[in-house]
Amino acid sequence: MRCCIRGAVTVDANTREDILLNTRNLLKEIINQNSLKIEDIVSVLFTATRDLDAAYPAVAARELGIVSASLMCAQEMYVRDSLEKCIRVQVEAETVKSQADVRFVYLKDAVKLRPDIAGKGKNVAVAIDGPAGSGKSTVAKELAAELGFIYVDTGAMYRSIGYKCLENGIDPNNAERAAELAGNVNMEICYIDGRQRIFADAVDITDDIRTQEVADAASAVAKIPEVRRILVKLQREIAKNNNVIMDGRDIGSNVLPDAQVKVYLDADVAERAKRRCGELAQKGIEADFYKVLDEIMARDKQDRERTVNPLVIAEDATIIDTTNMKIVQVKQEIAELIRQALL
Ligand code: DC
Repeated sequence: MRCCIRGAVTVDANTREDILLNTRNLLKEIINQNSLKIEDIVSVLFTATRDLDAAYPAVAARELGIVSASLMCAQEMYVRDSLEKCIRVQVEAETVKSQADVRFVYLKDAVKLRPDIAGKGKNVAVAIDGPAGSGKSTVAKELAAELGFIYVDTGAMYRSIGYKCLENGIDPNNAERAAELAGNVNMEICYIDGRQRIFADAVDITDDIRTQEVADAASAVAKIPEVRRILVKLQREIAKNNNVIMDGRDIGSNVLPDAQVKVYLDADVAERAKRRCGELAQKGIEADFYKVLDEIMARDKQDRERTVNPLVIAEDATIIDTTNMKIVQVKQEIAELIRQALL
């Protein structure tokens, strides 16, 4: 079915950077909230108020990989006392949804343009916490794809800060310097076809953050209160605008205390080490079981014993011990919790 999705955003300054950043965010929200695939998009019409002339917003669409759709930019007609520095879009797409079901997206001050739809339809949040190797990411990723929710891997955010520390020669245990870096790095979380990609200062580092060295650095920066404050803010913003399945260590207990569903996944530490070895073997990496076991135990200790937002079981979480369970069983159990919570 062909449908048209409207959206708008305001920008803080008439700079190329601000125009492109806000347009990308707007397009990402439209894509996420309407479960679109890039190839579903047929055309995008952009208009900008006449006070914005530092960049064409269509460039942001190309940056997101919207390459075959036809794009057009035009100046908005000027209306006295209208909202300033505003970019509007109209996205035409082929979707399974009918026009009546599409979600229009108005961000920042542009919310004022459509008070009738702003904040309508409370989003659903599913929090999945647990130690490394408990199966969180596999389950969360697959469930999110099945439900059309956004999967938010918060561990990847801590890993990105750890990665940037290593890249810049900063000791990840140096609270002051790591926090300064976290405040300065431009982290962008992008959901392309429902999959999370993470960009730091416009470089896609999704695949680079999966090494043991980065995992150790992530665990170190995750102890720093200011780093957590910055990342938790970002996580809450994503959950405010989307239906999410978010996994991490402190999601149910701290990031999303009002999540409709909270799950704590656990598994015997030896089983978790076995799974991690299996994952590495799949990537062609031969790992020593006892070394992996030691690394997991060390990370468990750091994550449980840190003073700020440690790994804890939220009071109202459902605990699932996955030691002897198959992924499909874990998924079924959580899907049932979600179904009941949304009844
Ligand atoms: O889940 P992971 O291995 O990608 O997480 C990397 C590190 O980040 C891990 O040591 C725990 C930490 N972390 C955290 O402190 N809080 C979260 N919400 C997610 C991860």
